[in-house]
Amino acid sequence: MNIFDIDFGQRYRDHMAAAGGREKPPEAWDAQAAGMARQMQESPYAHAFVERMDLSAVTTLLDVGCGTGTIALALAGRMERVYGLDYSAGMLAVLMENAALRQFTNVEPILRAWEDDWSDVPACDVVVASRSSSVMDMADALAKLDAKAKRRVYLTSLVGGLFIDPGILELLDRRPPPLPDYIYILNILYQMGRHPRVDYIETDSRLANTESFDVFARKLTHSVGELSDAERTRLAAWYDADPVRARRGGAPFRWAFISWETR
Ligand SMILES: C[S@@+](CC[C@H](N)C(=O)[O-])C[C@H]1O[C@@H](n2cnc3c(N)ncnc32)[C@H](O)[C@@H]1O
Repeated sequence: MNIFDIDFGQRYRDHMAAAGGREKPPEAWDAQAAGMARQMQESPYAHAFVERMDLSAVTTLLDVGCGTGTIALALAGRMERVYGLDYSAGMLAVLMENAALRQFTNVEPILRAWEDDWSDVPACDVVVASRSSSVMDMADALAKLDAKAKRRVYLTSLVGGLFIDPGILELLDRRPPPLPDYIYILNILYQMGRHPRVDYIETDSRLANTESFDVFARKLTHSVGELSDAERTRLAAWYDADPVRARRGGAPFRWAFISWETR
């Protein structure tokens, strides 16, 4: 057996199923839309994403899983037309509010899921999927992005498959199975005959910048569920032992930034 015998699309689906990955209903994202920062397109993450893009000869952009417009709106001022595709009507409503606030009239929402038929989704010079490719079928998702891009695709994906510093999880009695990460994407693209480039974007941990242990512990419960007394005690010792590390919320989070040409 050699590497060409491995069906990385199938391996990804198997890994996702084994890790208990499930498609969230769009309503779960609707509920988060209003709370998302209005200025996400000016965040260090958005800057890091955009500065890695080649926008030469690019006038149209399709942002898949666009949310409230982190990448779509960061680039709308440079484009003739921008399409924001998302299955959450709540996210698309905030996208359009944000576009209106910035007086963009070239932004169009597309209410659609990764899994739907995309035959009427417009092909664009550049297609992006920022932090939005937590799909059950990666081979299908990559084929869709590739088919809609006249020039290039850019996406970010998990590195390591966990959203919390594994060192913190080890302190707890939790061993969440890591989700499949970017390495499947590189292999699937290779098997599609593409030549992906990979870079990394570091962002603050989602546990960063808490002003007290209680706030830190509360944030952590959003990700891992309620903490037992023993877990809380171990975590408090970790938090107090190194205030700088505690302020950072443990290790920073790392996204893989993957791009490829389609022509
Ligand atoms: C973490 S947010 C990322 C938003 C934005 N791209 C960013 O980088 O800030 C993930 C987005 O993907 C969308 N999403 C999740 N699953 C989806 C699916 N199956 N089809 C379409 N959109 C989906 C969610 O509604 C949400 O807006």
